[in-house]
Formats: sequence, C-alpha cells, structure tokens
Amino acid sequence: MKFTILVIDDEKNIRTGLQAALELDGYDVILAADGAEGLDIALHSDVDLVITDLRMPGVSGEEVLRRVTTESPGIPVIVLTGHGTVENAVEAMRSGAYDFLTKPLNLDRLSLLVKRALQNRELILQHRELEREIENRKSFEHIIGKSPAMLKVFEVLKRVAPTKASVLITGESGVGKELIANALHNLSPRKPNPFIKVHCAALAETILESELFGHEKGSFTGAVARKRGRFELANSGTIFLDEIGEINQQVQIKILRVLQEKKFERVGGEETLEVDVRVVTATNRDLEKEIAEGRFREDLYYRLNVVRIHVPPLRERKDDLPLMIAAFIKEFAEENGKTIEGIDSKARSVLYAYDWPGNVRQLRNCLESAVVMTSGTVITLDDLPPSIRAGTDSSSIRIPVGVTMAEAEKEVILQTLSAQNGNKSKTAEVLGIGRKTLHRKLDEYGMDKNAVGDDDGDETGD
Ligand SMILES: Nc1ncnc2c1ncn2[C@@H]1O[C@H](COP(=O)(O)OP(=O)(O)OP(=O)(O)O)[C@@H](O)[C@H]1O
Ligand SMILES: [Mg+2]
Repeated sequence: MKFTILVIDDEKNIRTGLQAALELDGYDVILAADGAEGLDIALHSDVDLVITDLRMPGVSGEEVLRRVTTESPGIPVIVLTGHGTVENAVEAMRSGAYDFLTKPLNLDRLSLLVKRALQNRELILQHRELEREIENRKSFEHIIGKSPAMLKVFEVLKRVAPTKASVLITGESGVGKELIANALHNLSPRKPNPFIKVHCAALAETILESELFGHEKGSFTGAVARKRGRFELANSGTIFLDEIGEINQQVQIKILRVLQEKKFERVGGEETLEVDVRVVTATNRDLEKEIAEGRFREDLYYRLNVVRIHVPPLRERKDDLPLMIAAFIKEFAEENGKTIEGIDSKARSVLYAYDWPGNVRQLRNCLESAVVMTSGTVITLDDLPPSIRAGTDSSSIRIPVGVTMAEAEKEVILQTLSAQNGNKSKTAEVLGIGRKTLHRKLDEYGMDKNAVGDDDGDETGD
C-alpha cells in the first residue's frame, strides 16, 4: 500500500527537503505552505500522515494538530519544532501528536519515525476494515467467524435449522454452543414461538424433573400449587437442554419418551400431556464415554444426536481471531464510551500465540478488561491481563516470517531490552555486543533516551 504524507511548513527549504527525503522512501507527498491550506487538504483528501511545523503565520501548527486529531482521528500527526522549544513539543504530544522532530532535521530519524507512524496507521486501517466486515456479518445471528471450521458450522446450521431434527451441539466450554442453539431457533419457522433454555447442571437432581415436566399440587413437599414444566412452556417452540450430560437416568427416560411419543406426565400427575417441541441439546462431556461407563442411555443419545454440530476450540480456528478481536473491542469500547482504534502488533501476537483454554468466552473477557484498562486509543501489551501475557512464553522471541534481517535484529534487541527491564548494560552483555553499538542501534530505532528523551530505567549512563 502506498501512503500519502502531507507536509505543512511555511519555509520552502523545509518543504522541499522533506519532500525529497520522503519520496525517496517511496511515499506520495503533498505540500502545503500554510496552516489553512494544510488543514483543508488534511480534512478533505486521503492523507495517511501529517507532518506540520508548529510556528506558522495564520493557522498555527497547534490548530492543525487539534483539528486533525479531533476531526480525522486515525491520521497520525508529527510536529516539527525549532531548536530550544521543547515545551511546545511536549504540549503537542499532550494534544495527541504522534511524535515530534526538532529542527535541524535528522533525516534518518525522520525516516524511522514516519515508518513507525505509518505502521500504526496501517493497523488502524486494518481494524476499520474488520469493523466494516463485522457490520456485514451481523446478519448471521451474532456468530462471528470466517475460519473454514466455522463456515462449515454455518452451513450445517442453515440446513438443519428449518427442520425439526434434534440437534446435539458439542464442544469445549466457551466455544459458543449457546449462540448456536439460539441461531437454530431463530433461523427456524418456530422463531415466533417460545425458546426455552434449561441449564441442567444448575438444577438439583430432585428439582430438574419437576422443572422440565411440571408437577401437580401436593406431589411433593413444597408443591403447593400445580406448576407447568419447561416442556409445556416450550410447546410449538424449541427447548434447549444445556449440559445434557448431567441428567440422571430417571429424567433421561422421560426425555426419551417425549422424543419418541411427544408425551409425558407432570410429576405426581395422571394426565398425559402432548407437546410439539424441537429439542436442542449441548454438552462439553464426551457422551460416548458416558454411555460406555453406563451413565448415559444409548437410546436417548441416538435420539438427541440426529444432527451433530461440533464447535471446535478457538485454538484450532485462529483465523477467527482478527474478526473476533475487532468485534469485541468495538462492543466494549461502545459499552464504555471509549474510542479505540485497534490493537498494536505486540499485543496482537500475544493473543495469537495464546492457547485460549476458555475459548471465545475467555477472549471476550480478556478484551473487555483490556478496553477498560487502556488509557490510550490503541490496545497494547500492558493492557492485557497478566495471565494472558504470562501464558505466552516470555523467555522466547517470536519473529514473524517475512521480516527483513534488520527488522529481525531490531526485534531481538528490543525484546531482550524489555526482558532485561530496560537495563542497557545487561542487554548489551546478553547480546554480546558493545554498549556503544547498542546505543547506536537504539538511536536508529528512535529509542535512545539521549535522542528521544525516553526514560527507560537504566540509570548507569554511558
Ligand atoms: N463465534 C462467536 N462469535 C461471537 N461471540 C461468541 C462466539 N462464540 C462464543 N461467543 C461468546 O462467548 C461467550 C461464550 O459462549 P457460549 O455461552 O455460547 O459458550 P458455550 O459453548 O455455551 O459454553 P459453556 O459450555 O461453558 O456453556 C458468550 O458471551 C458468547 O456470546
Ligand atoms: Mg453454554
């Protein structure tokens, strides 16, 4: 992707100097000689980055910065400051500038800074693209996914939802079984009729039977009045029996009869009731094993398992991560009234590397917490819960395939520095390079404190 950079400066030399340097780096450059013209371009054409002088006659650089960050958030602004005006730079950073450069300009630093700012920009654009994709996919019953595994699930869903077939949904905790059960009902002709959920594991064995089938007055202590059961309530609709692996034999027999004959009696009742109910069940247990061990009826199993929808664990469909991450960030940003533009590459690689034993539920919680915790507009590593960060082995360095030697070297240096808590002497020692070399590299990356004013906890000096 070719980026467009807008340079605003009233000094002609600076404009043309920047243009030459930036074009050499392969960017398209637009020039503006004053703040008013610059602002007009920044707000009305496709610009990916703004570099603006601060002190200009008429509309000042501060004004440009203020209006671009409020009216076109997502376009980074780098400000240029004259020598000895650090306060202005600090003020600009506070107002949302991406970074600053002091005149006379160091072109290497400019080049690095622009590259980093645009990487950030690209990330924001990707995030927006994903947000648009989520909008388009909302129609599929709030289930997010585009991995081959999920597309297969959607296919089966579309095919069986309109039928009356019993569906058994299997998969680990948090993979989205309940969402699928909801979709089965909503995509069926039974949609206007009741959808009744029963969480079998949450009900004591003694209560479960009367919950499902109802009871007559006086049928047991505490049965002070006749009560209708969930099967009755679900008549002409769908009943969702969650955690079906937890029910006892007596209830299993009764459910079997409903499936075979559509008939049952209330607890303590004589009257036989007839219902038309579609039965959807879910479990994270291995029912075949339960059968082998004599805890689950095989005949019931076959009745429930007419169609099986298995939802694979998240770690086996990581293609779903980008969309899910974007969707959850959007959801929680809205809920918390925050503007979040995306997630940076380090945090993203941690989310990709993690195993997600709690599946989508855990990912959702993790992003809720990150959105709540973050003080910026982009989620970073620091915003992720410690348990997730710890789950990705911090003693190893991950470098994506496709980076250049220089980028790999930079990653190795920065990650070692971070593992040494910013101590440069130790970092140089671990890497087997001299301190001067390390400083020079960090300077190139725009990370050296002498160059950028970064405070990194290394107090020993050079
Ligand atoms: N594909 C998905 N897209 C969007 N949200 C999802 C998806 N899968 C799961 N979720 C969300 O993750 C959370 C857990 O999903 P759900 O309750 O359906 O899981 P489950 O498989 O029923 O888990 P359990 O076995 O623990 O009951 C819910 O908040 C749900 O909305
Ligand atoms: Mg569930």
